[in-house]
Amino acid sequence: MTDATRQGGLLAWIDARFPLSKMLREHVTEYYAPKNFNFWYYFGSFALLVLVIQIVSGIFLTMHYKPSAVDAFASVEYIMRDVPWGWLIRYIHSTGASMFFIVVYLHMFRALLYGSYRGPRELLWIIGVLIYLVLMAEAFMGYILPWGQMSYWGAQVIISLFGTIPLIGPGLAEWIRGDYFISDATLNRFFAYHVIALPLVLIALVAAHLQALHETGSSNPDGIEIKKVKGPDGNPADGIPFHPYYTVKDIMGGTVFLIFFAVVVFFMPEMGGYFLEHANFVPANPLVTPDHIAPVWYFTPFYAMLRAIPHPFLGVVVMGAAVMILFLLPWLDRSPVNSIRYKGPITKVALALFVVSFIGLGYLGLAPVTELYTWIARVLTFIYFAYFILMPWYSAIDRTKPVPQRVTS
Ligand code: HEM
Repeated sequence: MTDATRQGGLLAWIDARFPLSKMLREHVTEYYAPKNFNFWYYFGSFALLVLVIQIVSGIFLTMHYKPSAVDAFASVEYIMRDVPWGWLIRYIHSTGASMFFIVVYLHMFRALLYGSYRGPRELLWIIGVLIYLVLMAEAFMGYILPWGQMSYWGAQVIISLFGTIPLIGPGLAEWIRGDYFISDATLNRFFAYHVIALPLVLIALVAAHLQALHETGSSNPDGIEIKKVKGPDGNPADGIPFHPYYTVKDIMGGTVFLIFFAVVVFFMPEMGGYFLEHANFVPANPLVTPDHIAPVWYFTPFYAMLRAIPHPFLGVVVMGAAVMILFLLPWLDRSPVNSIRYKGPITKVALALFVVSFIGLGYLGLAPVTELYTWIARVLTFIYFAYFILMPWYSAIDRTKPVPQRVTS
């Protein structure tokens, strides 16, 4: 027995070999977070919670699911009907996918409200956008796995988008499919990406996201850097230790969130066809196209943009640009203040219009195509991009209110 073990027990023994106490101090008990977090600051921890739920429920699904074009659909039915609690595991995982996007969209909206993407948090934001991209790929590939009609035809639509790229398109689409058409080979590789490759990337990115967060420290609804004003103990005067204050707050919020999650799982797992589309309860059939192909709700804003542009490749470019433009956000915002609380009317109207355009496009992406809807989608796409492209101008000229020295409660 070493001296360290004799004096301090197990923890001291570990600390002499691994910086456990040091890490807990740095990231939990002595990590100072602003004392004025509000409702919007719950969603990062909810996203973490959903990530864990998806990984755990996914592991159990994988125990019974069969990634082959012949068996996949039947294996999902087997999970639903015969595997003990299989229905619960599947509904938790399918509900979790939509919950992930609800939570992440609200989390991103918070960044728009309080300028969380602005310096010094640019890299934290960029890692966030990368997470969002990987999450979209993860959800898309997971949706293929039940091998229902929407799995098949959704993949058909999305993969053929890559085929519209000049010169390399057709070869690229074939490379993604691993075949000349969507087939068993496609299902197999998407399974590999969905259950191991992308989750690994996602976990690594989330770890980097949190490390970056703890480097800069959290922003807050006042948009003030709390590190600038130190108390007599040398810690931020407007900060409180993450543990116990925010661990308790997040456990309380997480419990309410889980109740909401459970209500969906137990009472409305299909959510009227929004979380699980009706056409996906029919096995994939390459010979019969469903009447109405639409992606799951979280992709529909971008799908509406694609359909609004008359040229296929240009549509793909616009759709891609709608996501890529998020990377530039930290450099588009020229306002002297961070938080919406101290920004002026133009910025507030711009943000409101942006939200209307995103939700409106989401609705239109689910609706059948009509001449009128196509025109509305074009206008909303224009507003979506105007929010970003005009930002350097309106954020610079807009009125601002004086920002207080210390956080307000
Ligand atoms: C798996 C997905 C994600 C997880 C688990 C996650 C986790 C977190 C957590 C725990 C926080 C601190 C608590 C909070 O501020 O809410 C945070 C902060 C932040 N996240 Fe995420 N996040 C995710 C995705 C994203 C995405 C997609 C973006 C943006 C595109 C993003 C941007 C940010 C920003 C800018 C902050 C700092 C907020 C501030 O200090 O004001 N995150 N994230």
